[in-house]
Order: sequence, then structure tokens, then C-alpha cells
Amino acid sequence: MSEKFNRGAERALLRVEHLTVQYGALVALRDVSWSVSAGEILGIIGPNGAGKSSCFAAVTNTVAHVGQTFLEDSDVSQTRTYDLASLGLRRTFQHNSFFGELTVLQNTIAAISREFSVSLAASIFLPWRESVSRRQATQAASQSLEFFSIASQYHDKLPGDIPYGVQRLLSLALAYGTGAKALLLDEPAAGLGGGDMKQLAQILVELRKRKVALVIIEHHMDLIMSIADRIVMIDQGVMLATGTPAEIQSDPKVREAYLGRDE
Ligand SMILES: Nc1ncnc2c1ncn2[C@@H]1O[C@H](COP(=O)(O)OP(=O)(O)O)[C@@H](O)[C@H]1O
Ligand SMILES: [Mg+2]
Repeated sequence: MSEKFNRGAERALLRVEHLTVQYGALVALRDVSWSVSAGEILGIIGPNGAGKSSCFAAVTNTVAHVGQTFLEDSDVSQTRTYDLASLGLRRTFQHNSFFGELTVLQNTIAAISREFSVSLAASIFLPWRESVSRRQATQAASQSLEFFSIASQYHDKLPGDIPYGVQRLLSLALAYGTGAKALLLDEPAAGLGGGDMKQLAQILVELRKRKVALVIIEHHMDLIMSIADRIVMIDQGVMLATGTPAEIQSDPKVREAYLGRDE
């Protein structure tokens, strides 16, 4: 324990060390380490195929990898994805995924219901407990949608029937549940226009105020440079640079990695 503190990483809510991901002969990620604190936004940038999404897959244990992950100084390297979510480490994906036949509100209730769940025995023998918990979950879901700026006119619609920008916010709301400690967001602004992006930025800054540790993979440089506290740049699986947005923007290695590529 003391060794960890001596290394000065005691404030890190989430810390990854020496992550390496290999798909057959391809090394998608090589020896990548970073950490993020509560109330901090860490940006991850890099060209397509750099290994960014693989990094999230490694952190959430959905892909075989080498290296370690610490959540609040506990080693969660072997913890299953579902259990990581229960501990407050959650992620969104590059592409939206919802229950298509459930409404926006029902999707949100499903996402948070774990936190209000009643055992099967209790729901049979004490039905009132289930109804109380269902009411609480519905209320919490509405509040969550409100926090993520999803207007009530969309709550009873199917996710496929709401505008794309609102779908992206819904992905965020579902990942956050009733409160995540660390959120990994994979290109949350993908496909968003200017107005939606502004709204997204405001929500991300709100989450930071709520002391969530945010790690955001993002291609939109304006967005990530304006909200991130620190940036990690990955290129061809390797961490090429790390620093404040200003440091990253003036780093010749970063410029070189982006220039002359079809990004
Ligand atoms: N499941 C997989 N199987 C094999 N190769 C993969 C798989 N996922 C990603 N890759 C490859 O690994 C590299 C990194 O991919 P990825 O992590 O998705 O990069 P990024 O998110 O930065 O675009 C790419 O060359 C990609 O083609
Ligand atoms: Mg990706």
C-alpha cells in the first residue's frame, strides 16, 4: 500500500498499468499506462486503429490482455465486466446499443434496476416491496433522463424513433445509471452536429462536477481539447505523448502522427 502512495498516484480513482492487447499476431496496444482522478477528464486521442477502443476493452476485461487495473487502489484486473459495473466502473461503446423494443424510459429503468433490485422471494411474498422499488426506479430513471437533457417528450418513444443526438445522450445515461465512479466513453460525440456537441460538453463538465472520473476517447479535437484536463495520445498501440491539452497541441510527435494520414 505505502509503495503505491509513494509513487504519488494516491489520488487516482482508476489506474491502468502496462496494458498490452494482442489479437493473434497483431499487437493492438503495447504497455500503456494512465490514471484518472475523481472529478477529472482524461482524453484519449489517436488515429483510427491506434488501439483506443482495445484499451477500454482491456480495462473492462472484455478482451484478453496483459497488465493491471486498479479501482480506488483495489486490483480489479481479474474482475468481470458485470462486477466492475457494480463497483462503479462503466463504459459506453462507439456504437449505440439499446433494447430496441423498450422505450427510452424503460431502457433507463432496466439500466438502473440492479441498484433497486428486490429478490425473487421478496417480490413473491412481499409484493409491496417490489412495487415500491419499481416506483423508485421509475422516478430515478426520469431524474436521470432529465440530468442528461433528454426531454420528457422522448421518454415513451423507442430509442430508434428519437433523434441521433438524443440517442448518444441516452447511451451516456444508461452507462451512468444512478451514479458511476468512473466512466469510459468511446467517441461520445461521433456523428454529432455542433449544437448537440455543445450540449454533450456541458453534460460531461457536469459529470466532472459530480466527481466522476471520466476517460473519453474522442476524435473531435475542439471538444476534447476544450474539456479535458489531461490527454493521452496513442499511435499504433503505443502511448506517444501525454500532457495538458496545450502541451499536446504543441507536441511535434502528435502533429506528425495526425498529419499526412486520412483521419
Ligand atoms: N476483435 C478484434 N480482432 C482482431 N483485431 C482487432 C479486433 N479489434 C480491433 N482489432 C484491431 O486492433 C487495432 C486497434 O483497434 P481499435 O482498438 O479498435 O483502435 P481504435 O479504437 O483506436 O480505432 C486495429 O488494427 C484493429 O483492426
Ligand atoms: Mg475505436
